[in-house]
Amino acid sequence: MSRTCLSIILAAGEGTRMRSAVPKVLHKIGGLPLVCHVIRTMKAVGSQKVVVVVGSEAKNVAESVQLFASDVAIVEQKKRLGTAHAVLAAREELQKPVDDVLIAFGDTPLIEETALADARETLKNGMDIVAMGFKTDRPAGYGRLVEQKGKLIAIVEEKDASPAQKRITFCNGGLMAIKGKHLLSLLEKIKYNSTKKEYYLTDIIAIGVLGGLHTKAIEAPKDNLIGINTCGQLAEAEAIWQNRKRQAVMLCASLQAPETVFFSYDTEISNDVFIEPYVFFGPGVKVASGVVIHAFSYIEGTTIGEHTEIGPYTRLRVGTDLRTGVKVGNFCEIKESEIGTGAKIKHLTYIGNTEIGAHSNIGAGTITCNYDGYNKWKSTIGERAFIGSNSSLIAPISIGNGAYIASGSVITEDVSDDALAFGRMRQVNKNGRAKVLRERGTAIKQRKK
Ligand code: UD1
Ligand code: MG
Repeated sequence: MSRTCLSIILAAGEGTRMRSAVPKVLHKIGGLPLVCHVIRTMKAVGSQKVVVVVGSEAKNVAESVQLFASDVAIVEQKKRLGTAHAVLAAREELQKPVDDVLIAFGDTPLIEETALADARETLKNGMDIVAMGFKTDRPAGYGRLVEQKGKLIAIVEEKDASPAQKRITFCNGGLMAIKGKHLLSLLEKIKYNSTKKEYYLTDIIAIGVLGGLHTKAIEAPKDNLIGINTCGQLAEAEAIWQNRKRQAVMLCASLQAPETVFFSYDTEISNDVFIEPYVFFGPGVKVASGVVIHAFSYIEGTTIGEHTEIGPYTRLRVGTDLRTGVKVGNFCEIKESEIGTGAKIKHLTYIGNTEIGAHSNIGAGTITCNYDGYNKWKSTIGERAFIGSNSSLIAPISIGNGAYIASGSVITEDVSDDALAFGRMRQVNKNGRAKVLRERGTAIKQRKK
């Protein structure tokens, strides 16, 4: 769309009902703060500029928001005097010319791009103010959208509604789209509401109608407008978000039991990926095509190359990079490591701060001892190396291409290409000695009786 767009996200509320030290809009769904979900959608619908209005927790919220999107502007609403007052905190931006202004709430994270695009389209088609509503048989607590012959003539807050208005089931979801050229002058006309001691943004409708503007209510799916006030509602929103993400993933990949797989906002799954039940994706995971992830795996901050096989019960931590055709099996943990093409790490292993070359085989129970209690150290394992089971590799250490580490070794010195390294005592066999011990032990036991 060639029209310019400014988005304002109101996030100055305190969120006392969460009973949490964390500001409400920083609670997460899909691993991303609520307010960042809104920012993401605002950008997706073509906003050139996004402004977040923050309140008492300004510093915290600003830090998280800017970590996610450094181009988002933060403005502070020092006194919490209502939604219209909050929008005015962005006055500086509102003074610049812009075609469309979208206003949304930071605690309403499930709004979808299609709903916002619909609101912008309605402006383009000649409306001046668009309010987004939803229908419900339990409207209590919401502002009601009062219509006359298809035109929105007012939004009446629950507290100010007449009994007849209270029966209206078309509710204000809080999201508005307004033509930029009208917004500032409309906001300045909003009067202080003495019942609730606030400046209501919703009064903008009646004021616009008086001024001869075109106003309309459009309907969005109810789940788009769910507001979060409690931890229970946070969990409900998470469930809706996860279901949407699962559906999106299943456009090209298979989830054997979708309801048991959990994604993050940025999880990328390519085509022909097969995911078994009970898999968790934290932020920062990319999965290439043809990958199989077996049940009960926990993966975050990891890139998984084509045709790799993971799990069951694999834990992949931040900074893991698995190349093509890697196999990582049960009870293996990997972090900050690069695993070369076709390498195998199949059982009971910890790999940290390590580079493993192509086609190496890491035996069961191998531990890279990367931490000395003070610092982390790096291990390098070459290509086609074989690390025998139950070996400890004390970093910093380098093991060459084609090297062979005998099982049960504790390796403290570098091993060159194609060398065989033993880092353990040689075995001693004493023939007949077991029998002697058995007879002696049995005799002592008899005497005691
Ligand atoms: C608002 C709407 C109501 C709608 C409902 C939908 C108004 C007057 N009412 O009511 O019609 O049905 O949302 O959920 O707009 N905020 C600020 N600064 C303020 C006040 C609020 O930033 O001074 C932010 C809050 O953090 C929140 C949003 O604005 O994100 C809405 O405020 P809230 O107090 O929750 O409004 P409601 O009473 O729910
Ligand atoms: Mg609210």
